[in-house]
Amino acid sequence: MASIFAKKPLAVLLGEANSTGHGTLKRTLGAGNLVALGVGAIIGAGLFVRTAAAAAQASGPGVTLAFIVAAIGCVFAGLCYAEFAAMIPIAGSAYTYAYTTMGEFVAWVIGWALIMEYALGAATVSIAWSEYLNKLLQVFGMSIPYNLSHSPFESAVVNGVTEHGLINLPALLVIVALSLLLVKGTQESAMFNAVVVVLKVLIVLVFIAVGWQFINPANHTPYLIPENAEPVKNAAGDVVRSYTEWNKHGFGGILGGAAIVFFAFIGFDAVSTAAQEAKNPKRDMPIGILGSLAICTVLYILFGHVLTGVANWREFADPALGGEASVTYAIKAHMPGYGWLATAVTVAILLGFSSVMLVMLMGQSRVFFSMAKDGLMPKAFSELHPRFNTPYKSNLMLMVFVGLFAAFVPGSLAGDLTSFGTLLAFVLVSLGVWIMRRSDPDQPRPFRSPLSSPSFPLVPIMGALICLLLIVALDAFTLKVALGWMLLGFVVYFLYGRRKSLLQKGIVVVPTEMEEAAFIEPSDKNL
Ligand code: ALA
Repeated sequence: MASIFAKKPLAVLLGEANSTGHGTLKRTLGAGNLVALGVGAIIGAGLFVRTAAAAAQASGPGVTLAFIVAAIGCVFAGLCYAEFAAMIPIAGSAYTYAYTTMGEFVAWVIGWALIMEYALGAATVSIAWSEYLNKLLQVFGMSIPYNLSHSPFESAVVNGVTEHGLINLPALLVIVALSLLLVKGTQESAMFNAVVVVLKVLIVLVFIAVGWQFINPANHTPYLIPENAEPVKNAAGDVVRSYTEWNKHGFGGILGGAAIVFFAFIGFDAVSTAAQEAKNPKRDMPIGILGSLAICTVLYILFGHVLTGVANWREFADPALGGEASVTYAIKAHMPGYGWLATAVTVAILLGFSSVMLVMLMGQSRVFFSMAKDGLMPKAFSELHPRFNTPYKSNLMLMVFVGLFAAFVPGSLAGDLTSFGTLLAFVLVSLGVWIMRRSDPDQPRPFRSPLSSPSFPLVPIMGALICLLLIVALDAFTLKVALGWMLLGFVVYFLYGRRKSLLQKGIVVVPTEMEEAAFIEPSDKNL
């Protein structure tokens, strides 16, 4: 057997990217689709829930600066993703890049970590989706019974009666519906995503425009939380939140807030999993990745400015006032006559969540597609539907796996694990760019990340360092669960992946039509 650090030759990857025959994904997505895919995956719970949380817990109105800091971290990683995605337009994204730069074992680690980002992320979002669906229905005087919208591990007192969960049916159904859409076709899914993106961005813009008129400048002073800010107390007079720690006030609070809102940026990397379906990946991958990141950053800063101007950040800290539904609270409490906007925001959240789930489910199936092609996952994950040309078996198996999770597991579990999986991928992709600049300096790079030369790799190093810092800043419990998951991954690799790996067996995966055509030449025309 080869070493566990054996690398997949770049020439083979480029051959796979060039391949167009049976068993390959079809190139149907243009630059607009890719930007929409990015925005689709990015704007979701992070914006609508975590903005107020970051303001209340660490940054105050300076949450706008927290968004800028988080965006800077993402831009470094985004530039590295863009370089790779344009150079090796293959569905596996970070997994594939690691395979050719750091070897099979690291690739496996990253593929395994991406399950936390995509599959677990989709399940977590579906559970939140179910909660918001109930909120929307309540506006119209309806609701889904408690036992049909919660996992068996949850219970609560509703109207004086203790209710127990049975199954989270809305969460399950939304996963099923989106998985079936993905089976139907990449372009259909992209169309659905585009409609959803337009609607949710529109609602964000309306909130910004209308809310602007209700900004009370006093709410923006002071801009950062002072060290001696009054602690927050609950109704019983107990302190529930204080601001003395270094990352909860002043400039430290900006960093604390950046870690909280980082989640809001997750998703731009998912664009790279569609690289094998991009019509012109050389040009459009960087546009998709960096364009969606730029659009969302601008929207986020404006949104944070308006939200903390309309309501005072302390209101979001008060458990009796703002709490989870912070945006709707701010509208109802401070924007008289705009009750409909509160409902529209709930609709935007539901739409936002659907596209986040869609792109995550798609991303997961594409990563599995690549892993299965390499023999590291069962072959079924790389089988394409004869008519729709989508990895339908993968989509359907994920539907079952993610659907079961959505139906029966409480939602509180997974949010930060999604951040862990993403950050680990960012670290390795950033380092990968540096490694490849050294190992294959002459390889054509349609997009070159700036300040990344082997002698001065500022962008890759900053990308890796910032993401590493954010990993360390995650809470201890999240890190323990993540470690447990990664150890399980090691076991699976040595029991299954290593034995089945085509590279380990000495079989190099050469796409059929390439076999005939001296495939190694990475032609500009097709790439
Ligand atoms: N960025 C995505 C969200 O905020 C994960 O929901």
